Amino acid sequence: MPTFTGDEALSYDQRIGKLVPGYELLHHTTAAQLGVMLEQNATILIVGAGTGKEVIELAQYNPTWHFIVQDVSADMLAIADQHFTNLGLSDRVTIHHGPLLQGQYQADVALCLLVMHFVKDDGSKMKLFEQICANLGTAGALFLADLTLPETSFEREAQLNYCQKHLGLSEVGVTTMRSNFINEFYPIDTARLDELAKYAGFDSPISYFKALGFSAFILNKRDCSA
Ligand SMILES: C[S@@+](CC[C@H](N)C(=O)[O-])C[C@H]1O[C@@H](n2cnc3c(N)ncnc32)[C@H](O)[C@@H]1O
Repeated sequence: MPTFTGDEALSYDQRIGKLVPGYELLHHTTAAQLGVMLEQNATILIVGAGTGKEVIELAQYNPTWHFIVQDVSADMLAIADQHFTNLGLSDRVTIHHGPLLQGQYQADVALCLLVMHFVKDDGSKMKLFEQICANLGTAGALFLADLTLPETSFEREAQLNYCQKHLGLSEVGVTTMRSNFINEFYPIDTARLDELAKYAGFDSPISYFKALGFSAFILNKRDCSA
């Protein structure tokens, strides 16, 4: 996984839009759904919040919502904290550095955007799904976005092509990304996602976004009373 520290953190906001086709659209479509789904005073848990993009998008939808902003990188969270101060959002945000504890929060919804693909499928993905589920209230849902396994032999190359032609990714950036696909990401397919989701306490994922290799899903927490 990239370290998301030092220069990698400082350059994140400039880089990410060149690496993820539809990055803005992913955030906008996620926020639009939460805008109609959540009540007043909702608590939104953001797992792997990085530099705070989710909060910046969502804060404008409802001034009563509160955000728990979690990440394992202190450098990414420091940049997020600065953005929140600049935007006057700090009093609506709780910053959580490090892993989530079991049942620490009772969030109405959790977001985990562009994070789980960096977590190995050796029990670690399952643990993170379980930690998220354990920090949601009974009617909670998880919005998840990840690089998924390619469905065609040409999807990855098409993605690199798109990033270079339309997003301004350099030749060096394309070479790095091609290598990162193999060495830094742990993508899974939808069948495996369905399996992990169910083990961790969610219903089957519902697809809501796809742009070349990046896909997003809603995972409703399973109703244990049924
Ligand atoms: C590509 S960034 C995504 C940031 C933000 N969600 C966005 O959409 O811009 C991935 C973030 O996930 C964090 N991360 C990686 N593994 C994590 C884990 N196991 N738990 C929480 N955060 C993690 C990284 O530190 C980094 O800030």
